[in-house]
Amino acid sequence: MWPFNRKGPSGFSWYSTAEEVTQGLDGSGLTAIVTGASSGIGSETARVLALRGVHVVMAVRNLSTGASVKEAIVKEIPTAKVDVMELDLTSMASDGIELQFATNHVGHFLLTHLLLENMKNTSRESKIEGRIVNVSSEGHRFAFREGICFDKINDQSGYSSWTAYGQSKLANILHANELSRRFEEEGVEITANSLHPGSIITNLLRYHSFIDVLSRTVGKLVLKNVQQDKLRPVKDHTGKLSDASLYHPVGRMV
Ligand SMILES: NC(=O)c1ccc[n+]([C@@H]2O[C@H](COP(=O)([O-])OP(=O)(O)OC[C@H]3O[C@@H](n4cnc5c(N)ncnc54)[C@H](OP(=O)(O)O)[C@@H]3O)[C@@H](O)[C@H]2O)c1
Repeated sequence: MWPFNRKGPSGFSWYSTAEEVTQGLDGSGLTAIVTGASSGIGSETARVLALRGVHVVMAVRNLSTGASVKEAIVKEIPTAKVDVMELDLTSMASDGIELQFATNHVGHFLLTHLLLENMKNTSRESKIEGRIVNVSSEGHRFAFREGICFDKINDQSGYSSWTAYGQSKLANILHANELSRRFEEEGVEITANSLHPGSIITNLLRYHSFIDVLSRTVGKLVLKNVQQDKLRPVKDHTGKLSDASLYHPVGRMV
């Protein structure tokens, strides 16, 4: 549907699928850790990376759902190298951090930093660039006008789940940008970027029943399905990715 079918600078349109975008890529020898791989964008990312020969580690909080997704991937791609590992991104929830900020930012921040030394050593020894991709959202614009209000994160008065979502997604972008700045300073061969995957029908809106029903009915006409999700940065620029960028389904935005 125009204008969504129009191709961007990447050569792909809003509706291009991850399979189309990664056509011809050989990911063998690479390892990718995919969070949220039990559903939606994460499970499709895991499937397509496995299809391209990448060893995929599905980091999921629900091991049985993770095992079902793995089973479906291996059934379709018998050569797929997929492992399922338990990861609850809110395992620090006892610290009392607002749930969306804890899941979307703090959990991923912690995971990234636990893996960082390993990634640096691997990229140095293998001479293969490491990549950190934070799945942010255009919804980062819902954050407070001042940006992230750390003093209001646990403030229940006037709580808005949209603002909370927005500031967690803004944190994803700022985290990638700061990582990128540090990598450049240290001369580390790792890129860090964030992306908006497009508007895709997934389980994301399951706690907003009215909007969820709307997206699965009327929204079907304009929203994307999970096959049309986010792997674009892999092929937006051949060779090294531009660092500290927010990618969009048809190219780089910022
Ligand atoms: N769909 C869109 O239109 C859209 C647009 C912009 C950005 N995004 C971003 O895309 C990402 C994926 O969303 P989606 O649309 O694919 O939603 P989804 O289908 O609801 O998937 C969310 C995934 O996160 C996992 N998860 C939730 N809490 C977790 C925790 N505490 N520990 C570990 N895993 C946890 C879920 O696991 P369970 O299966 O156990 O629940 C599920 O696998 C999100 O960051 C979202 O903000 C989506």
